[in-house]
Amino acid sequence: MSEITYEYIREYLMAIEPDENSLLNNIREDAIKKNVPIIKSEVKNLLRCMLAVKKPKMILEIGTAVAYSTIIMSDFIDESGKIITIERSNEMIEKAKKNIKLANKEDKITLLEGDASKILPSLTESFDVIFMDAAKGQYLTFYPECLRLLKKDGLLISDNVLQNGMVAKSRFSIPRRQRTIHNRMRQYLWELNHNPNLQTSILPIADGVTLSYKKCD
Ligand SMILES: C[S@@+](CC[C@H](N)C(=O)[O-])C[C@H]1O[C@@H](n2cnc3c(N)ncnc32)[C@H](O)[C@@H]1O
Repeated sequence: MSEITYEYIREYLMAIEPDENSLLNNIREDAIKKNVPIIKSEVKNLLRCMLAVKKPKMILEIGTAVAYSTIIMSDFIDESGKIITIERSNEMIEKAKKNIKLANKEDKITLLEGDASKILPSLTESFDVIFMDAAKGQYLTFYPECLRLLKKDGLLISDNVLQNGMVAKSRFSIPRRQRTIHNRMRQYLWELNHNPNLQTSILPIADGVTLSYKKCD
């Protein structure tokens, strides 16, 4: 049961979802079966709306997993556009490559293999949209690089920022490791909200999503 949204509302919203294409359905079902965390439906729809409005040329994704969100986002870039996505798990990389091929998106999607903390500083492109969806304790570490790589008028979108509501709860009733992750996420949310160059909205949907618009460099 979600600690953020009411289950009956989520069930209702899921019941009125339009049908998804069969490849995305298969990737999603397989991911759920194998406990691979992928974006929830609400986040999928939010990404689609934001990208339809933004019309990005360059997208950066941190955390590919099986390339479910990557393939969804790739529908919103034009002929000259590209998605760079970063993944460190060999198992995920193999699955992502297979799915990108099945989706016929090999020319649009570049998968960078390795840890984002090492890869991000080496990137020289600038991006219209950055989708942060990797290890939650590392968002704060990746944040300065994301700001460097994001164009003016660009959008930084981060998933799973409320951690099933735990980020907003008492920090003393949970194990130390989780507490550290939650503290770092709190600090990340504080930074997003207080950076004068950003306009941020924290949405309590799915597992919590932030939208941050970069007003100036
Ligand atoms: C939540 S999943 C990504 C789901 C994917 N965006 C989707 O919705 O289809 C997070 C992924 O990030 C990867 N990851 C976590 N920390 C990372 C890091 N520091 N560098 C690269 N990949 C990382 C994990 O291996 C995992 O596959």
